[in-house]
Amino acid sequence: MWFTGLSAAGKTTLSKAVCERLRANGYKVELLDGDAVRRHLCKDLGFSKPDRDENIRRIGFVAELLSRNGVIALVAAISPYREVRDEQRRRIRAFVEVYVNAPLEVCEQRDQKGLYKKARAGQLPGFTGIDDPYEPPLNPEVECRTDRETVAESIEKVLRCLETRLP
Ligand code: ADX
Repeated sequence: MWFTGLSAAGKTTLSKAVCERLRANGYKVELLDGDAVRRHLCKDLGFSKPDRDENIRRIGFVAELLSRNGVIALVAAISPYREVRDEQRRRIRAFVEVYVNAPLEVCEQRDQKGLYKKARAGQLPGFTGIDDPYEPPLNPEVECRTDRETVAESIEKVLRCLETRLP
């Protein structure tokens, strides 16, 4: 299950909550979060297009290994490029794309990590949504409008979509 969206759209919040709910229901589940992955598996990568694509391919590789062994793999990464997301969709059986969608203005207002402020000040060149692209999914299985829905509503949406696909 692949959560994509702008920084501060709510990918981590949603995927963590979904992870906890699934675990509580006895499922084996693992969360691959962009920030954590970049501290470990992808420490060597930056934010150029080739590096972001490589980040997504590595995450997709691990997610496929997990899911093929009966572990639900949740991925939370900006994953701004459609083509490499669709490549993972083709590789991974039962791929589910969750578009975590909040307008840039809302993400910028949230700015929990203060990164939008830095980007606007020119201290963080190539920041997604400011001076780097984000290509929204065209046909996501689920779309959560996190500026209009409560967290609980978004979680339910995601779980309802999963329910039809779980054993
Ligand atoms: S992705 O584009 O390769 O999918 P990923 O989700 O792994 O990104 O990492 C995004 C995180 O890196 C953000 O949450 C933010 O904390 C940090 N970050 C640092 N620089 C950038 C940047 N230029 N663009 C986006 N995120 C950045």
